[in-house]
Amino acid sequence: MSQPAYVIDKMISAKSIAARIEELCDDIRQEFADTEKLIVVGLLRGSFVFIADLVRELDMPVEVDFLEASSYGDSTESSREVRILKDLRGEIHDRDVLVVEDIVDTGHTLSHVAHLLESRSPRKMKTIALLDKPSRREADIRADWIGFEIPDEFVVGYGIDYAQRNRNLPYIGKVRFTE
Ligand code: IMP
Ligand code: MG
Repeated sequence: MSQPAYVIDKMISAKSIAARIEELCDDIRQEFADTEKLIVVGLLRGSFVFIADLVRELDMPVEVDFLEASSYGDSTESSREVRILKDLRGEIHDRDVLVVEDIVDTGHTLSHVAHLLESRSPRKMKTIALLDKPSRREADIRADWIGFEIPDEFVVGYGIDYAQRNRNLPYIGKVRFTE
């Protein structure tokens, strides 16, 4: 099905994202200062660019693993039902884990994933999201670290898609429908 016409207005530049990641990594390094090896869990697919920049800035021993939860499909409406489409490859029992999400919107995805991973008894688990839309929250969850708080806009770029497109934009832009 074809999508309605839209343009993308720049919202957060690549430079601002990089600067914010440096700050976040200072905090993360401190929080995990006594960690031998951090397991960084990216939620597919939206976090793939963020996690790539994050682990390169972290400068500590890490393992990278991925988990895929069901998402919006090709619409901009969130589904409250979260399914795990792809589980982690590795064990996280007794390990230190950082869960990396692209956007916390209603919060159902992060809430579901956080509960699932907590049930596997990691030693310590923290969550980070590049973007947070607090005005949209339905589930009682907040990421431990947030890159940027944004208003209720549909955004793309830096890994984040609209109907699988625009993930490769180096910045975050907001989608503005023109028809
Ligand atoms: P939640 O479960 O409602 O918090 O939704 C989380 C997921 O919805 C995110 O990981 C994104 O994949 C997707 N999402 C939420 N807001 C946006 C957006 O503005 N653009 C693209 N994807 C979004
Ligand atoms: Mg996602």
